[in-house]
Amino acid sequence: MTTFGELFGREPDGRWAGPGRVNLIGEHIDYADGLCLPFAIAQRTVVEVAKRTDGRLRLRSRSEEGGFDGDLADVGPGRPEGWSGYVAGVLWALREAGYAVGGIDLLVTETVPLGSGLSSSAALECGAALAVDDLYGLGLGSSAEGRKQLVDACRRAENDVVGAQTGGMDQAASLLGTAGHALLLDTHDDSTRQVPFAPAEVGLTLLIIDTKVRHSHADNEYGARRASVEKAASALGRPSLRDATVADLAALDADLLPRARHVVTEIDRVRRTVALLDAGRIAEIGPLLDASHTSLAVDYEVSCPELDLACATARAAGALGARMTGGGFGGSAIALVPADGADSVAGAVRAAFAAAGHREPDIRATEPSAGAERIT
Ligand code: GLA
Repeated sequence: MTTFGELFGREPDGRWAGPGRVNLIGEHIDYADGLCLPFAIAQRTVVEVAKRTDGRLRLRSRSEEGGFDGDLADVGPGRPEGWSGYVAGVLWALREAGYAVGGIDLLVTETVPLGSGLSSSAALECGAALAVDDLYGLGLGSSAEGRKQLVDACRRAENDVVGAQTGGMDQAASLLGTAGHALLLDTHDDSTRQVPFAPAEVGLTLLIIDTKVRHSHADNEYGARRASVEKAASALGRPSLRDATVADLAALDADLLPRARHVVTEIDRVRRTVALLDAGRIAEIGPLLDASHTSLAVDYEVSCPELDLACATARAAGALGARMTGGGFGGSAIALVPADGADSVAGAVRAAFAAAGHREPDIRATEPSAGAERIT
């Protein structure tokens, strides 16, 4: 196993972790002025980092090919390519925002599974951002308001340097997540609130079912969905679909209407989920999770047979609710299950995947965990 010392001829200044995320509900609306409810998970990306006194970046990963050797001054839209863009992009974005940051040596030693739909890219960005914050004494990591600046930098890394037009949900979850809560993120004004979500306390378990499927057309489809939603809003003469009702959508063309209906109904489902969680009624959110999945599969068309099978099988085996989570086209589903039924639900999903000739899914229980942190 390659060590930091072997690669860079010195020891790291520390290790930082950025968690992946699950989105409980509020899918594909963080780029549409909507509300989402993600949380940080225990699976994380770990980086070892040392500060440099010049503007150089040396970036390596234990598990991924490639990397980067170059100057921070050479980083910009589209440069560098590959996973290094997520890290270099964070430094670039912090500098663009006026923070005095310089070079680093960085080794990725552990990662959220790539393509799992659990946001390995945000985990990497957020772990690296916190490391740079610490090493350059920016003081942003110690408060929620400061962390929001880091969220912005991570999102700019992804949007401007990597060139993926994602919303900011994943980065917010990874940096602002806390144990025992989901994070209500209102993308209209970027305000956040911690909403109690501790399924184990009421005898429930949230399973993550990683289908291990990753469709190559996902990025194009993501951009197409985003464009449809913007087109629908402008066709209705609105800045966004935020305050539209389903009745308002009747004037839309047949191709835009279902996309817009997903956005409008999903915002409503998030509000109803939050009201139930605030009232301590976790067990009652199941139908909202199911309806979210149906809307994503039928109206938004971002699911796939494996995600549909995982959700339908989990429900038939006793889950209170199940839905795909994240961008879709593969990746992971979640299922809320009675704790004493978790093994049988997992077994039923594995059996259904085997019978359908799919790869064996990775199924594990999850709970909201701490956001990005220094480990040593
Ligand atoms: C990806 C993006 C997020 C969000 C989800 C869908 O994870 O990175 O910004 O749009 O898809 O909810």
